[in-house]
Amino acid sequence: MRLLTFSFLKNCKWKAWMQNPRKISSGTVRSTVEEKITGDPNLIYIHPSWKADEEQHLRTAIMTDMQVLPDFVTEAEETSLLAELENIKKYRFDMCEWCTQAIQGFRETERSTWSEENALVMSRVRGAAFSSARAGEALPHVHVLDLAAAGHIRPHVDALRFCGEVIAGISLLSTAVMRLEHAQRPQLRLDALLPQRSLYIMRGVARYEFTHAVCGGAGAPSTWRGAPVPRRRRLALISRSRPPPTAC
Ligand code: OGA
Ligand code: MN
Repeated sequence: MRLLTFSFLKNCKWKAWMQNPRKISSGTVRSTVEEKITGDPNLIYIHPSWKADEEQHLRTAIMTDMQVLPDFVTEAEETSLLAELENIKKYRFDMCEWCTQAIQGFRETERSTWSEENALVMSRVRGAAFSSARAGEALPHVHVLDLAAAGHIRPHVDALRFCGEVIAGISLLSTAVMRLEHAQRPQLRLDALLPQRSLYIMRGVARYEFTHAVCGGAGAPSTWRGAPVPRRRRLALISRSRPPPTAC
């Protein structure tokens, strides 16, 4: 079975991808406070538009539910992963502005089997992001998303139909900035700095109540705390939980 990938969406309307977050009144989605993941809180920056006294419970929850673990893979592991994914270069980057509104400047594939060395990295991802009962099982296919230097992903929520509680992504080749924005109250906004070789883990409120985007292009320049973060080509290895059987 293929995962939902952007290629699949080329002929779809934007709304098919831009899943409306669950009708959530604050507190409906439990945050994952009880499950400790030790990301670096300095890699999360809450924009000043989110006032300190506004939605404080959500602020606490987002700091738990969006985590970035720097140096998750070593340089040697990165080299080994890239070597195994070299094949992706046979595809051209899709730079078409009109093909899909969700993303620009990308090519992608999926992978479920890995060399012994790379399988160890993937099993570390499962250990870090999918070991709790709530996270559920990781789908066997890892989504390999190659974003050109000028490419970017627009704000969206991964469709509930294709993905469960957790989204975990390794960033290779380049640092990037991921912007999260509350689906109903856009002033509740934060950036996650995703250094090269880091792993991000998005779940709970971050996965369901906020849209996420990978910054780039004129509309959402890649910046961190106001300073530009030049983006090179970036390869993301994204693991997702299996959707619950009841997902629409
Ligand atoms: C996606 C997505 C983020 C990333 O594929 O849905 O949001 O890290 N990707 O590239
Ligand atoms: Mn996504």
